[in-house]
Amino acid sequence: MAGRWKNDLTLDDVTPRGIYLNRRQMLTSLTAAGLGLSVSPAAAQGADLEPNTFEDITSYNNFYEFGTGKSDPAEYAGQLTTSPWTVEIDGLVDRPGPVSMDDILSRMEIEERIYRLRCVEAWSMVIPWQGFELADLLEMAGVQDGAQFVAFQTLLRPEEMPGQKRPILDWPYIEGLRLDEAMHPLTIMATGLYGKPLPNQNGAPLRLVVPWKYGFKSIKSIVRITLTDRQPETTWNLAGPDEYGFYANVNPNVDHPRWSQATERRVGGGLFSRRIDTMMFNGYEDEVASLYRGMDLAENY
Ligand code: MTE
Repeated sequence: MAGRWKNDLTLDDVTPRGIYLNRRQMLTSLTAAGLGLSVSPAAAQGADLEPNTFEDITSYNNFYEFGTGKSDPAEYAGQLTTSPWTVEIDGLVDRPGPVSMDDILSRMEIEERIYRLRCVEAWSMVIPWQGFELADLLEMAGVQDGAQFVAFQTLLRPEEMPGQKRPILDWPYIEGLRLDEAMHPLTIMATGLYGKPLPNQNGAPLRLVVPWKYGFKSIKSIVRITLTDRQPETTWNLAGPDEYGFYANVNPNVDHPRWSQATERRVGGGLFSRRIDTMMFNGYEDEVASLYRGMDLAENY
């Protein structure tokens, strides 16, 4: 496994914004000057990492358990009870069983990660997350030899998640990763953003973030994590197998059957909302391309 991934941007860099931008310019000019300094990857390669506002990040969401409109999660997710919260870790692990959210928070090392989120609907945001590496949680549970995949499940509670009363998707929402993807140091479990506990609409109290994959892989409000020897089913693949693959790596060269993935709209800025080119692996190519060496990425979309 690669070493712990260092993100040298912090919340102090985000606010106030001027300082953040100065720092970006400084890093760029250092690199451009060819001083040969080893600047650790501040960010996705060549990507715009100016964070979206807290307002954008918490008011324009996909969380179909609360409805399919972008403003539905902000409107309805407040009714979800997120404490107490328990995550069941089971399957091919040495120490299966329920873990309380309090336990997780006290045992994991919480750090900041500023990541781009690129939705399959061709919009994107930059989000300053707080969280921990999924690898640390899996190591706590003790991954057994035969494990090859990790399956995730969202809470099923139609009383508090009104979308689950309608057959919009097969509930509960499920997702999966290959074990090496799950153990990759870029893969985190988020517990907060902008220094605040994770808002319900963003997947409180615990959600996955896999920055090189389309946003739908980043499953919210997780209650079960299962280590398995088989590729797990995933909600969007069940809903549209030709449109949403298991891998779902961001790839500007492989279009969705109904729209191009070559460009994306950067959420925020109202009228000045920009269209930008989508980057291979959402800008994290240097870090993750090796995971897929030898694979046909058009076939494994
Ligand atoms: N997780 C659950 N349980 N339900 C969902 O509908 N939507 C996914 C993903 N995780 C979704 C989910 C999609 S399509 C995206 S783009 C991201 O969450 C959006 O995350 P955000 O609202 O925090 O930006």
